[in-house]
Amino acid sequence: MHQSWKTISLLSLFSTAALADHLGPTYPAPIDFSSKHSKIPAAWKNLTTLFDGYLKHHVNNSLTAPLAGVENITFSTSLFSIHDPRATELQYHYTSPEIATSKNGTNKVDANSIYRIASVSKLFTVYTGMVTLTEEEWHTPLTKLNPALAKYAAVADEDPTWLIQFDKITPWALASQSSGIPTQGGPLNDILWAFLTQQSTVNPVTEYGFPPENISSLGPCYGGLVEAIAECHDSTFVESNALRPPAFLPWSTPMYADNNYEVLGALLSNITGKPLADVYESALFSPLNLTSTFYSPPTKKADQARSVVAGIPEVGFYLDIPYTTPSGGLLSTLTDLTKFATSILNNTLLSASVTRKWMKPQTHTASLSYSIGAPWEIVRYVSPTTGKVTDIYTKLGDSGNYGSITALIPDYDAGFTLLAACSNVAVRSLQTNVILDYITSAVLPALEAQAALEAAQNYVGTYRSTQPKVNSSITIGIDESSVPTNNFGLSLTEWISNGTDVLASDLFSGAKPRLLLSIPKQTPQGESGAVAFQASTFAQTYSYLTPGAAKRGTVGPFSGQYLTNLDFWSVDGDYYGGNGYREFVFAVNGDGKAESVTPVATRSRLEKK
Ligand SMILES: *[C@@H]1O[C@H](CO)[C@@H](O)[C@H](O)[C@H]1NC(C)=O
Ligand SMILES: *[C@@H]1O[C@H](CO)[C@@H](O)[C@H](O)[C@H]1NC(C)=O
Ligand SMILES: *[C@@H]1O[C@H](CO)[C@@H](O)[C@H](O)[C@H]1NC(C)=O
Ligand SMILES: *[C@@H]1O[C@H](CO)[C@@H](O)[C@H](O)[C@H]1NC(C)=O
Ligand SMILES: *[C@@H]1O[C@H](CO)[C@@H](O)[C@H](O)[C@H]1NC(C)=O
Ligand SMILES: *[C@@H]1O[C@H](CO)[C@@H](O)[C@H](O)[C@H]1NC(C)=O
Ligand SMILES: *[C@@H]1O[C@H](CO)[C@@H](O)[C@H](O)[C@H]1NC(C)=O
Ligand SMILES: *[C@@H]1O[C@H](CO)[C@@H](O)[C@H](O)[C@H]1NC(C)=O
Ligand SMILES: *[C@@H]1O[C@H](CO)[C@@H](O)[C@H](O)[C@H]1NC(C)=O
Ligand SMILES: *[C@@H]1O[C@H](CO)[C@@H](O)[C@H](O)[C@H]1NC(C)=O
Repeated sequence: MHQSWKTISLLSLFSTAALADHLGPTYPAPIDFSSKHSKIPAAWKNLTTLFDGYLKHHVNNSLTAPLAGVENITFSTSLFSIHDPRATELQYHYTSPEIATSKNGTNKVDANSIYRIASVSKLFTVYTGMVTLTEEEWHTPLTKLNPALAKYAAVADEDPTWLIQFDKITPWALASQSSGIPTQGGPLNDILWAFLTQQSTVNPVTEYGFPPENISSLGPCYGGLVEAIAECHDSTFVESNALRPPAFLPWSTPMYADNNYEVLGALLSNITGKPLADVYESALFSPLNLTSTFYSPPTKKADQARSVVAGIPEVGFYLDIPYTTPSGGLLSTLTDLTKFATSILNNTLLSASVTRKWMKPQTHTASLSYSIGAPWEIVRYVSPTTGKVTDIYTKLGDSGNYGSITALIPDYDAGFTLLAACSNVAVRSLQTNVILDYITSAVLPALEAQAALEAAQNYVGTYRSTQPKVNSSITIGIDESSVPTNNFGLSLTEWISNGTDVLASDLFSGAKPRLLLSIPKQTPQGESGAVAFQASTFAQTYSYLTPGAAKRGTVGPFSGQYLTNLDFWSVDGDYYGGNGYREFVFAVNGDGKAESVTPVATRSRLEKK
């Protein structure tokens, strides 16, 4: 939408009906996760009391009923915040009867218990790539990175239904589930392989009428015995998959594929010229001091003694198929997984701008509430009370006897981690997600409420010019109610500029704009800094109002698009002398408390009284 002074009146026409918000946080991230005044430990206590009620005291009511089966899952979970190291004291551990009586490994879990992390390994692999690969390498066709693939790609261009177009696939396509290559890395889900290796007694040739097939022509990474698979890595593995037909064309639709990360791992090893174990070690484990994170199952007695061994050790915890490690084979503890997750949000290994670019969707899925990044599984949480959409950047692990998650919430500079184990795979898989639902519905509203509380403490009040005879002031309020409109957030309730009431003028027509965070404080905690906000005269979007479903009886997606997403179109659209007159920059002290505000249009500094 083109903006000019002429459009101001057009925008103000929308002001009572339009819904907006730019994507991102309403408030600065909360910094208090541990004091007795914080809402976050209170919500965590509430949650863990509920878990205790069900798991220890067998409370069975409508609040605990969905947890049925969780008593059989051993799990460890933790919160974290980059601003409050004590957030990780908000942990919960539960040991199921299976682990309490296990003959192998620990009988009681804590933050140093070693679990398999399953597919959270994929996030380790991509993070390793983020640290190791150049921007150019991420976007180089695989045929250039592994010349052995070129011969397949040449043919594939003529027959892309049957052959993978490796010249169109880049490491970034692999990292973001966008390559379209077939899912499983090798024979794990292959009914013919299962029969030939006597894992299954069902002969697909006689049972299903499929023709005999010689899978050993696919090479040791596919058709061989378990021993051959264990030797299968790097280019042999990549080549054996090159012969299989693609599931989709590259870059057409996201598809969950272990193979993407197995190939990416092989490439990381190939490009660095080092065994993959060493690549993880030098990129992540050593710099982040992840002393309890393992490339393969632990061999030291002391580590085995703190391992969470669900089911038969050899086919569960101690299973080691190296070519699958970059997809699902790493092992870690709650302490290490939390350090790992914190390091991403805290820009420990990557710059803040590279991290922001990385933590974005690459593609939608067919669901409005779920997008895909590299390798982020972006869960779009909708607050049941405010309707606000908060994107949770997750990577889930769900394989065999183990489940896991790293959940990063950039809007709050915080997140949570979870590790879980149970040899009943179906219960483990379904009910681990239920645990995650409980954590989400306890933690997300608490983060929002704590952010609002700190914003009220840090910003609300009146700011005045200290120059003699200059009548300039700003008053900041906060609205935490959806009645009569969804006007959540800090608000500009008064703006006097040199004796003139700016909000009463036709620039704002009497509106009391919301102040939405635009540039958070960039200095470390303890140091003073600046925080910028943009004024919006539109109420908060209630999610899933598709364009056109807004008020005013619009007829379709186009006529409704301004009404549901107006801040995207109009933020920072109005200037005075080149400066956005809807932008306000606060000077804050080391604790984040505002000391003054500068309306960017006037450049005057108004001190908080
Ligand atoms: C505690 O949990 C109950 C039930 O889920 C909920 O109604 C209540 O609002 C929660 N209180 C806090 C402080 O989170
Ligand atoms: C809990 O209560 C529900 C509903 O009354 C019942 O179906 C279920 O079997 C109970 N579960 C346990 C573990 O007692
Ligand atoms: C939990 O495990 C016990 C013991 O193996 C079993 O009897 C019970 O059915 C399991 N509960 C669920 C919900 O799977
Ligand atoms: C995040 O990084 C800052 C700056 O390096 C550091 O002071 C802080 O302790 C880190 N936060 C956590 C939770 O480690
Ligand atoms: C647990 O099982 C693994 C794999 O079989 C074995 O190496 C280890 O010694 C066992 N530990 C104990 C305490 O039995
Ligand atoms: C199966 O393929 C392998 C490898 O290409 C070959 O050595 C073998 O002779 C083939 N077996 C049959 C029965 O065709
Ligand atoms: C990398 O791949 C190329 C091409 O397949 C191969 O020649 C080379 O030996 C590989 N290097 C490593 C370290 O695996
Ligand atoms: C690394 O982690 C170990 C084990 O948790 C700890 O003892 C050690 O102090 C840490 N080292 C550094 C430099 O933080
Ligand atoms: C405030 O307004 C007065 C009267 O119009 C004017 O003389 C003065 O320059 C203005 N001051 C500022 C800081 O704009
Ligand atoms: C400052 O200006 C406002 C708006 O014109 C006016 O209401 C107020 O009385 C003035 N205050 C002083 C001290 O002059």
